[in-house]
Amino acid sequence: MPELELPQRQATDTVMLTGFWYRALPADRVHRNQLHKATLLEIPLVIGRDRQGHPFALRDSCPHRGMPLNSGKFDGENLECPYHGWQFDVHNGQCQLIPSLTTDQTMKVDRIYAGSYPCEEQDQFIWVYISDPGPQGAGFTKPSGAPDPAPQIEKFSDKYKLAYLQAEMPVSIDHGIIGLMDPAHGPFVHQAWWWRSRHSIHEKQKNFEPIPHGFRMASHTPSSNSAPYKLLRLYADADSISTTIDFVLPNVRTETIRAGKYWFSSLTTVTPIARNQCRIDVVAAWNLFRWVPFVPDLLKFVFGKFVEQDRRTMEMQAEGLKHDPHLMLIDDADRPAKWYFQLKAAYLESKRTGREMKHPINGPVTLRWRS
Ligand code: FES
Ligand SMILES: [Fe+2]
Repeated sequence: MPELELPQRQATDTVMLTGFWYRALPADRVHRNQLHKATLLEIPLVIGRDRQGHPFALRDSCPHRGMPLNSGKFDGENLECPYHGWQFDVHNGQCQLIPSLTTDQTMKVDRIYAGSYPCEEQDQFIWVYISDPGPQGAGFTKPSGAPDPAPQIEKFSDKYKLAYLQAEMPVSIDHGIIGLMDPAHGPFVHQAWWWRSRHSIHEKQKNFEPIPHGFRMASHTPSSNSAPYKLLRLYADADSISTTIDFVLPNVRTETIRAGKYWFSSLTTVTPIARNQCRIDVVAAWNLFRWVPFVPDLLKFVFGKFVEQDRRTMEMQAEGLKHDPHLMLIDDADRPAKWYFQLKAAYLESKRTGREMKHPINGPVTLRWRS
């Protein structure tokens, strides 16, 4: 590889990938017999829980004349459209009743469906599976299942704590994701007296390897700038700490840090809401400090600061992006961002051709940068 590579001009596209699970809402905000609005990939959804507490997700649009269903009546089983009273089973969207039909009118009510989406509760979030757009014929499309369950945080003991935080960013999914994996902004964006200053910048070298639909920053070289790592160092000496960071399409970053019997895991997602809006959700699980009451608050404080710094930065960046500038990605610091775009393109290509996805990374790669 040449010592100096010309920066590559690269504009982000804003294609939002279907065929994946996405986080819709924190589970503690969705109550039984209530209806909530959410938007994923520009699809309006109405989300709720049935009488038993099982979550569901329907397209927030009546198949009759498009009325949003979120203001309808819900009895814990069926949802009634506020316009003409059609009723739908919340779990599969199947129409149950059209009140205007007379007894001799034989229309097959059960062939009509409000769009419904596979929905699961996992690690404090309601996840919704956004399938590939089906053939037109809305209103008569039966719901299809998800091929896999929603992603889970990896846990290494029975007892652990969980906490989440979220922030909305006024940028596309692509800027949200490459902002999340970008190693070079740390010393400039995440400064704090209790954390690090921009003078702590130093050269780093990390090993990466391809994994299905993504890449892994290999184990056993924890970044001294990582928050949970700093906490873990109070428990174990640096040599016994191992960490792995994975990114997989469409939007999932997982970090696992282990030190003997102690562990810390997080699953962060950047969810496309609309073309220029995304939301970051960080959910963390850990078994250290379980008995110390203030630690969840402390972790939330540290992560909250980080996420808020990222959010504010992206808010400012969004101002600049309004003018549609040319962008560039440079080696090695922006290589993960390049991989992200290549993975996305490879995924879309495999969908288009029906062939197996061709992974853009051939084998282990070492990247170097200063941060
Ligand atoms: S628009 Fe929903 S019942 Fe008519
Ligand atoms: Fe950041």
